[in-house]
Amino acid sequence: VKNIKPSIILIFGATGDLAKRKLFPAFYNLYLDGRMPEKFKIMALGRAENSDEKFRAYVAENLNEFSRNKIPSQESFEQFASHITYLQNNIDEEASYQNLKVQLDTTDIAFGERANRLFYLSIAPSFISTLSNNIKKLGLAANPDQDRIIIEKPFGYNKSSAILLNQLLSQTFREEQIYRIDHYLGKETVQNILAFRFGNSMFEPLWNRNFIDSVQITVAEEVGVENRGAFYEDTGALKDMVQNHIMQILTMVAMEAPTSLQADEIRNRKADVLKAIRRITPQEAEHYTVRGQYDHGTVKEKPVSGYLQEKGVAENSTTETFVAMKFYLDNWRWQGVPFYVRTGKRMQEKQSSIVISFRPVPHSTFSFGKEGMMPNRLIINIQPAMDIRLQFMTKKPGLSLSLRPAEMVFDYFSCSTKSPEAYETLILDALLGDPTLFMRSDQVEEAWDVVTTIQEAWENDKFLNLHKYEAGSWGPEASDALLARQGHTWISNT
Ligand code: BG6
Repeated sequence: VKNIKPSIILIFGATGDLAKRKLFPAFYNLYLDGRMPEKFKIMALGRAENSDEKFRAYVAENLNEFSRNKIPSQESFEQFASHITYLQNNIDEEASYQNLKVQLDTTDIAFGERANRLFYLSIAPSFISTLSNNIKKLGLAANPDQDRIIIEKPFGYNKSSAILLNQLLSQTFREEQIYRIDHYLGKETVQNILAFRFGNSMFEPLWNRNFIDSVQITVAEEVGVENRGAFYEDTGALKDMVQNHIMQILTMVAMEAPTSLQADEIRNRKADVLKAIRRITPQEAEHYTVRGQYDHGTVKEKPVSGYLQEKGVAENSTTETFVAMKFYLDNWRWQGVPFYVRTGKRMQEKQSSIVISFRPVPHSTFSFGKEGMMPNRLIINIQPAMDIRLQFMTKKPGLSLSLRPAEMVFDYFSCSTKSPEAYETLILDALLGDPTLFMRSDQVEEAWDVVTTIQEAWENDKFLNLHKYEAGSWGPEASDALLARQGHTWISNT
């Protein structure tokens, strides 16, 4: 793309899992789509010794496995690969940064101008402080209009660590240079929530406590913890999914209409939602939250083992792989409307969805009474189904007047089948300098604030509301009971 200045992308952790599965495929697809700057260089940084040639071959292998576009020809790959160089780098050693400085300056000279610099941190959080301090010391990101840093989650492990991390980064970078990534915000169907809500006049008048009875957000996965047992032991579903992905989806559903698409306008409206979430005190945690841990079972007809049998997991671990919770928002729009959220691994099927349930009819005109009526629902399927479903009652064809539920479906891909991956969207935005879909410091801190008291309650009582659930189910029964108290049920697509 001509309007992006020459750019140098520095990937720290270039031999890691994320780079392999998501980052290189994203750069490659942007390249194939003609979205990369005319002049760009990807500096892949890793601890091990490696040559450009070997590293490029490794990238090629991974693209064939993980990229949505496979490599059409060796020649086309080589064109892309010529932009990649591998640099051996030790985050703890100053000499590595001096070497990096030389590489950056040399590349600028070759480009004929000072290129933009995008530092991509795909490394363990414990390295961030050393890295950031060295970047400052050597002046590697000294141009605030041109230099940016992308930081992967987990952004801290509780509220106070997130505040410290923000303070630390602010010594090297201005807020507008810091891109905290939450890949859910790059998903097409998550962005479509804003299009749907604010591009139509029909639904927004109904989008409040007067018409909406409850909201549900589900992010269910079929996979277990895979080879990340050791990482997951310290993380658990609350920190891995609720603090970030689920909170971000919730803000999109609940936010007020922004007056423009300006980055801070949208981020302010989202921060308002996070502030409005009523905090659950440690004493209330038992009432508002449910934890689960998967036991062995069968997922899609395949027998799988339980969490405690996974590699890297302690035999008496109380780490949760499932969370269900009820939130309230203390503001005018949402007072009294329960927001139910749940997420889990090894569930019956992969499904991320939002269900907006409208209030029941005030009086049934029909002889069978209100029980036979299904309340109107709007279901927004984020993945893997990508559609919006509106459910309502209609007359059953026939001589008598009886009713049946019906559904109108909008399929997101009915008009186009080409979909960029979340990482492509977000990386392109970072290259362009648009932070709208990234999290501002205050948002991250507020989101941590919401979950920190719950974390504390769970740490104080290791077994509080912790239930086993069978792999391949929809979670523990206690999760159904959480909704049943107010006459609600989880809506799953199956
Ligand atoms: C990541 C979590 O952020 O999101 C993983 O760390 C989880 O545990 C993944 O599996 C889910 O992402 P997606 O895009 O597959 O829904």
